[in-house]
Amino acid sequence: MTKTFYITTAIDYVNSRPHVGHAYEKVLADAIARWNRLNKKDVFFLTGVDENAQKNVQAAEKAGIPVKEFIDKNAELFIELCKKLNLSHDDFIRTTAKEHTIVVQRIVKKIIEKGDIYKAKYEGLYCVGCETYYTENELIDGKCPEHNKIPELRKEDAYFFKLSKYKKELQKLIPQYVTPESKAHEVLNRVNGELNDICISRHKANWGIDFPNDKKFKVWVWIDALINYISGLKDKEEVYWPAQLHVVGKGINWFHSVIWPAMLISADYKLPEKLLVHGYLTTEGKKMSKSLGNVIDPLELLNKYHADSVRYSLLRCNVFDDSDFSEDIIIERHNNELANKLGNLVSRVSTLAEKYGIEKTKSNLEIDKTLKEVKEHFNNYELHKVLEVIFHYIDKTNEYIQEKKPWEVHSPQREAPQQSEEAHSKSKSNSRKVLYELSVAIKNATILLSPFIPSTAERIAKTFNFKISLDDLEKPLDVKSKINKSEILFQKI
Ligand code: MSP
Repeated sequence: MTKTFYITTAIDYVNSRPHVGHAYEKVLADAIARWNRLNKKDVFFLTGVDENAQKNVQAAEKAGIPVKEFIDKNAELFIELCKKLNLSHDDFIRTTAKEHTIVVQRIVKKIIEKGDIYKAKYEGLYCVGCETYYTENELIDGKCPEHNKIPELRKEDAYFFKLSKYKKELQKLIPQYVTPESKAHEVLNRVNGELNDICISRHKANWGIDFPNDKKFKVWVWIDALINYISGLKDKEEVYWPAQLHVVGKGINWFHSVIWPAMLISADYKLPEKLLVHGYLTTEGKKMSKSLGNVIDPLELLNKYHADSVRYSLLRCNVFDDSDFSEDIIIERHNNELANKLGNLVSRVSTLAEKYGIEKTKSNLEIDKTLKEVKEHFNNYELHKVLEVIFHYIDKTNEYIQEKKPWEVHSPQREAPQQSEEAHSKSKSNSRKVLYELSVAIKNATILLSPFIPSTAERIAKTFNFKISLDDLEKPLDVKSKINKSEILFQKI
C-alpha cells in the first residue's frame, strides 16, 4: 500500500502583504513534499492563511477598509505567491471558510465534553502582534520578546483549557516530535517548569469563530488556527491524518509543540509525527520587520527573477539557523551556481551531443554516494546540505568535461599526432561515450534537483530525454532519441 505523507506550513496572517519569510517556509515545505512524491508517497500538502486574528482586524481598521474586503485582498496576494513560487500544494485553506468554522466548533466541543475547559476570571497581558498572553517573567524589560512592545492588560471572563493536565504526555512527546533538538530543549525547559492552563476565549470580540454554546465569546485565534491542519483535509481526514510533518518558524514553536498536541490528546486525535522548526531570514543579521523597514517583498522578487532562482537561493539558506537574505544573494547564487555551473554544463553537453551524438557506456560519474548523502540530509531536513552535495557532484562533472575535452577529437585543428583512420574513429567513439557519461550525470543531478528547481528540471529532462523519477536514476539514458542543443536556462544577471 502506498504510504501517505501529509505536510503543512503555518498559515499566514493577512494583516499585510506576504514577506519573504513566508515564501521561505512555503518553498521549504514544497521541496520536502516534492521529494516525498519522488519517493512514491501519496502526498498531501496544505498551506493557507490565518484570517480570524485580531491583528488582521486592526490592520483593516487602520487602512480604513472593511475587514472582509481587506482580508480577501490580502489572501489573494498569498494565493498569487503560491502560484508564482510554483508551489505544488494540494489545497489552500482560508480560516473564514464555513467548513473550517464547523470543524473548530466540533473539536472545541469535544474538549469541553472531556472536561478540559472551564470558565474563570482572567487578568493578564496580551500581545496583539503574537495574538497571545504573556506572564510577567516571559517579558523582556516589560515588553513582548517577539515584537518589543508593551502588551495590553486585559481583564475578562474567560474559558480556560487545562493544559497543565497534559504535562507528562508532553514531556514524553516533545523530544521525538520536535526537530532540531535545540528547539525541543527550548520548549521542554518551559514545560518542565510551571505549565499553566491557558485562556482560549475572547470576550465580546466581533471577529472570529463563536465559542460553542456561548456566543458572547469567540474562540482564541490560535486554537482556531491550529485546527486548520485537520479542517484543511476536508473529506480526506481519514486518509491523511495524522500529519507526518508540520513546518513552522521558530517564533511559533511553543504553540505547535505544546498547545497543539495537548488539544489533540484531549480531543482524542492521533498526534502528528514531526514538527520542523526552521530559523528566520534576516537582513544584515536583524529580524525583518515592518517597523525597521527592512522587509523583502517576495512578489516583487518574483516579478524580477525566475521562480527557480528565488526558490534555489532561499533553499540554500541554513534550515535551522537564521540566515541573511537579500536581492544580492539571489543574484550571486543565480549567476555562480545556476548559470555558471548548472546552466553552462547543460549548454555545453547538449551542444556537443547534438553535434556528435552519444554512445552508451558504463559511467565513471557514479551517483550512488551522492544519492546516499542526499537521502541522509533529506531525512534530517537539512535541505541546504542536499544542495551542497548535488552541486559538489555538478562540480565534479564540470571537471570531467574539462579533463576529457570531448570536443577535441572532432576538431579540425586538433593537435593530436597523425592517427590511422581506425584509431581516429575509435577516439570519436570514445568522445561520444564521454558525452554519454556527461549526459547521464546531468540526468542524475537534475532528478535530485527537481524538488528545488522543478520547472528547470523539466526543461532539462526534455532536452536529454529522461523522466523525473528516482527509477530513472538507475536507468541508462535513451540513446535513440536525439539530444538537441538546450536553450539558455539561466541568463546571467
Ligand atoms: N498565523 C500564525 C501561524 C498559525 S499556524 C497554525 C503566524 N503567522 S505569520 O504570518 O506571522 O507567520 C507565518 C510563518 O512564517 C510562521 O511559521 C513564521 O515563523 C514564519 N516567518 C515569519 N517571519 C519569518 C522570517 N523572517 N523568516 C522565516 N520565517 C518567518 O505566525
